[in-house]
Parts: sequence; structure tokens; C-alpha cells
Amino acid sequence: MVLKAELHCHMEGAASPGLVERKATKYGADVSAFLQGGKFVWHDFTSFLRAYDQASMLFRTDEDYADLAEDYLLSLSRQGAIYSEVFISTDHAISAGLSPRAYIEGLAEGMRRAKGATGLECRMIATGLRHKGPEAVLAAAQYIADNPHPLVTGFGMAGDERMHSPKDFAAAFDLARNAGLGITVHAGELSGWESVADALDALRPARIGHGVRAIENPDLVKRLADDQIMLECCPGSNISLSVYPDFPAHPFAELARAGVPVTLNSDDPPFFHTDLAREYEIAATYFGYDEEMLNAVTETAIKGAFVDENTRTKLL
Ligand code: ADE
Ligand code: ZN
Repeated sequence: MVLKAELHCHMEGAASPGLVERKATKYGADVSAFLQGGKFVWHDFTSFLRAYDQASMLFRTDEDYADLAEDYLLSLSRQGAIYSEVFISTDHAISAGLSPRAYIEGLAEGMRRAKGATGLECRMIATGLRHKGPEAVLAAAQYIADNPHPLVTGFGMAGDERMHSPKDFAAAFDLARNAGLGITVHAGELSGWESVADALDALRPARIGHGVRAIENPDLVKRLADDQIMLECCPGSNISLSVYPDFPAHPFAELARAGVPVTLNSDDPPFFHTDLAREYEIAATYFGYDEEMLNAVTETAIKGAFVDENTRTKLL
């Protein structure tokens, strides 16, 4: 089996329907608005985010989050993963009535359990939500800068890219960078190449979440290649959200040929009917990647991981 590494998966978006149903039973909650017949229900990005938020409200204690991390990471290890970075969101924890400290401790416990059982190495990327606005993202950055945790090694921003401008978030990203965190930002998924260029100019990330729509501008593709800005590509997610009509239209292979470092990721696996193993299969089937090329994608991800050099060396 090809060994795999994942840099882009949202913890709340990785909750399996079965686990969400178990938590709903625990809390006596009705999930029928967003979960039917064992599948999450949504029809566009906005309703996806709503379903995602509703599912996350069923994780209310540190133990619920330990379960979530352990459940996801055990499944990831079964798919051949040796390294995983997950986006975490203190905003979601607070909305569910949980303190950021208990949230991160719960997740760290789940990661320790999964590592004990499988050896899978894992880190967290604290994330602000763009649609909540600059103040909320600054608060998320401030929390993690003031409360460092050894397993939280990055800071990022997810959410609705069509809202606000990257420069509105520069203070948050400066704070996170000065705290020593690796920087990534979602851009070039729902919006075009300008969104990627603006994010690079304003936020100076080492990696871009998605970033695939950079393909719309050859100068920008060259800039990504020259500066070796890594793209956390999520082809299955992109097709589910209709960013591209089908896999043959996806620019993953073209970006790679242009010298841009690209990686394969599942984003929100059960929402998009995917997982990391399927993303590697998609690359094999539609992008013509053989085993050697897939191994190189894993190596690229480990080189771009927000992890200490000792751990990186062991993984490589
Ligand atoms: N949050 C969870 N999944 C996301 C995605 N695909 N884009 C932006 N924000 C997200
Ligand atoms: Zn994402």
C-alpha cells in the first residue's frame, strides 16, 4: 500500500454519520435536518457549512472530541496514512458550550490514543472562520498565541472565501506567524485566481488550502512554483462542490507539471463521500499517477508539514 500523508482535513468535517448519530442519541437531539439515511444533506457551499455546523454542535465535551479525533485517525491509519494535520476550530467548540482548552485537550487525548494504537503522527492547525469576520479570526489567533500547545503547530483560515478581503485578516496572521505557527489559508476554491494572489500578498502563507484556481493565471502559477507555495488539493471536495465539473477537468496534474508542490487531501470526507485513500485513487485513475508519483506526493506533504525537524526526518 502507498503510504499517505494528509495536510488538509477539518476535524468537525471528519465526523462520520455513525458517530454523529451516536452523539445525537447521547444528547437526545434530532438530526433529520442535516443527516438522512446515513448521509449528510446539503446542496451547495452555504448549506454544506450549515450541515457541518449543525453536526459539530453534537460534540460538547472533551471526551466527545477525543472520540472524534480517535475515530477519524484510526480510520486514516487503516488507509495507510503515516501523518495527519487536522484543522480545528475553537469557534465551533465555544458555540457548543465547550472551552477552547477542554476542546484542544480532548482532541490531543484522541490523538494520543490513535498514535498509541497505530503510530500515526498528528498535529492540529488552529483555524479562524472567514465568514465570522476579522475580529473573530483575530480572537482565534490570539487564543492560540496565548495558549500554545505542543500539538498545535499551525494557524489557518477556512470558511466562506467570498466574504471579506485577505488584508482584513493580516493582523491575525501576523500574530500567529510571530507565535511560531505555520501558516495556511483557504483560497482559490470558491473564488478565482485573484483570491489566491491577494492571500499571498496579505497573509504570506507557506501553504494554500485548495488554491487550484490559481490555474486561471499562468503568472500566478509561476509565482507558486518559484516560491514553492504548497497547495493542499482536495479533488473529491472540489467535484462535490462543483468547483470543476468532473475529475478530468481538475488542474491537479497541470499544476504539478508546472512545478507547484501539490498534495492530496480529503477536506471533509463524509460530507464529500471521500477519504484519503479515495483521493489517492482519484489521482491514479484520472491524473495518471503511478505508485512512484503517489509516493512523491506523500513526500511533498511531509516536507511541507508543520512539524519539528526530528519528526519530519523520521517520517521521510
Ligand atoms: N470548512 C470546511 N470545509 C471547507 C471548505 N471546503 N472550504 C472552506 N471552508 C471549509
Ligand atoms: Zn478545507
